[in-house]
Amino acid sequence: MDGNGRWAKTQGKPRVFGHKNGVTSVREVTEAAAEIGVEFLTLYAFSTENWSRPTIEVNALMTLLVETVKRELSTLNKNNIRLQAIGDLSRLPEKTRLALLEGIEMTKNNSRMTLVLALNYSSRWEIVEAAKKIAAQVLNGELAIDQIDNGVFSNNLTTKNIPDPELLIRTSGEHRISNYLLWQAAYSELYFTNVLWPDFRKDDFYLAILDFQNRERRFGKTSEQLSEIT
Ligand code: IPE
Ligand code: MG
Repeated sequence: MDGNGRWAKTQGKPRVFGHKNGVTSVREVTEAAAEIGVEFLTLYAFSTENWSRPTIEVNALMTLLVETVKRELSTLNKNNIRLQAIGDLSRLPEKTRLALLEGIEMTKNNSRMTLVLALNYSSRWEIVEAAKKIAAQVLNGELAIDQIDNGVFSNNLTTKNIPDPELLIRTSGEHRISNYLLWQAAYSELYFTNVLWPDFRKDDFYLAILDFQNRERRFGKTSEQLSEIT
């Protein structure tokens, strides 16, 4: 979800105004995704690098998160959407963490779609943590080095129970992955749009889905092999 700050600037408003307006896009995209049958939607809300932004902006984002989770809770339940989070939640301000954990707890039995918030998340952090966990398992004899494979590695990531993304969307015209789901996005289709996040609404989401539907996902095989299977 990129471009909130630039969007605010075009309106002559402070960056936080952009973040507030970005919440409407979160609501619309979540709704659109659930409606078309997406099972997992992960939103990159705050990276481990975002702490280096001005304190006033960081605080505003943390407060916005608390307010949004609280306000949207009943809608999430009404729409049968389960909330989850990935990232180092232990470093979030207490209020933010508690609101988030409450949201996760209150929606845990919902089954239509899982909405995952990536908060204080970065792929390199996650991969290093996985390496540490695996090393500890080897050290205490639970795991042999030869047993370490893609599956073991995936199971030690914070996305353990979340399938790899099929489509990765980045808004605001930046063509970077920015430390996001690096392991999980190995075969994801990438979609870039110039639309700034607060302007990214249902129709923009549908355009991304339509584009995805026209991709040929080969997973390393040839085009001919794929038509033999189908
Ligand atoms: C939102 O957009 C991303 C968040 C960290 C919430 P930005 O705040 O990165 O907006 P730009 O890139 O400065 O326009
Ligand atoms: Mg940005």
